[in-house]
Parts: sequence; structure tokens; C-alpha cells
Amino acid sequence: MENLKVMFEEDEIQKKIAEIAKEIDKDYVGKDIVIVCVLKGAVFFTVDLVKKMKTPIELEMVQISSYQGTESTGKINFKKDLDGSIEGRDVLIVEDIIDTGRTLKYLKEYLETKNPNSVKIAVFVDKAERREVEVKVDYTGFVIPNKYVVGYGFDVDEKGRNIPYVGYLDN
Ligand code: IMP
Ligand code: MG
Repeated sequence: MENLKVMFEEDEIQKKIAEIAKEIDKDYVGKDIVIVCVLKGAVFFTVDLVKKMKTPIELEMVQISSYQGTESTGKINFKKDLDGSIEGRDVLIVEDIIDTGRTLKYLKEYLETKNPNSVKIAVFVDKAERREVEVKVDYTGFVIPNKYVVGYGFDVDEKGRNIPYVGYLDN
């Protein structure tokens, strides 16, 4: 991909994820977690995170999006729902990025209607300055400036997800 600069190298990413995994394990002692991975981008972060965790997990996937190209449409699409019940369970949403916050706010409120015991949020990358709605993020990897990131799950129109590091478009 042209004009792609490195933001986070692979080893830096894995080091950060190990720290988050440790924090989660500390917070969920004696519990087991239903991980809700937000397709598609968060697959990469989810896999690396859960492999580093000791807490037992079950894995759910949902697909919900508010993005087309590189501009937020503000519209939410629910493309895939939960498979199992989360009633009474401790749920951890794992998302690749929080930008305006609309996707995560909507998803958290939706999951809370299913009567879980708790719902927390882990995001790999936070574009904090772009926030439009308030959402509590419980675990954060990196806070980044307002740059469009590509790689390690992040795409430009579905391309570039398998780039092993996090890059940004330098136009
Ligand atoms: P939000 O609802 O505005 O917080 O949007 C979050 C969603 O926007 C993420 O799940 C991503 O799919 C997408 N997104 C936001 N910024 C980027 C980026 O820099 N690269 C790739 N996808 C992004
Ligand atoms: Mg996403």
C-alpha cells in the first residue's frame, strides 16, 4: 500500500496486548468471560489478546459498522448478532478502534438489554479527540491522533487488514 507509514511495530503491539491481558486477568479472577469480538477488524486484536489471557473465555462474534470508506456516516449497521445467550454473564466487548464512539455506545446498550451481569469494553486503539458520544472504555491499547490507520485488522475499503503492523496513511 502506498503512502503507508509505520505507527506501531509488531513487537510493540504484542507487548501492549500482553499488558492488557494481564490487567483483564487481574480484574476477572474466578470468573469467566464472554468475549464479544466486533467483526471484522477486531479479529486480529481479539485472537492475540485471548491467547495471552489466563481467564477462561467463550467467544462470540458480532458485526456492526458505521463506516464507509474513510468517512463516518454516523449510520449503524447490524449484520451479525450473538449466537448464544449472555444472560447473567460477564461480557467483554473487544473492538479494534473507538472513533466517534457511536458503534461502541450502540453495541454496549444493545448487549445490556440481554441482562448480562456486566459489560466492559477493550479497544486496541482510541482516537480520543474524535469522540462525539460518551462511552466508558475499560481497557485501551494506544491513544492515537486523528490519522487513518491501516493494518493489523484496519482496512481501507476491505484492503490492508493483513499488514502485520499498524500503519497510517500519510497523504
Ligand atoms: P465509531 O463508531 O465512529 O467509533 O467508529 C468505529 C469504527 O470505525 C471502527 O470499528 C472502524 O471500523 C472504523 N474506523 C475508524 N477509524 C478508522 C481508521 O483509522 N482505520 C480503519 N477503520 C477505522
Ligand atoms: Mg470496526
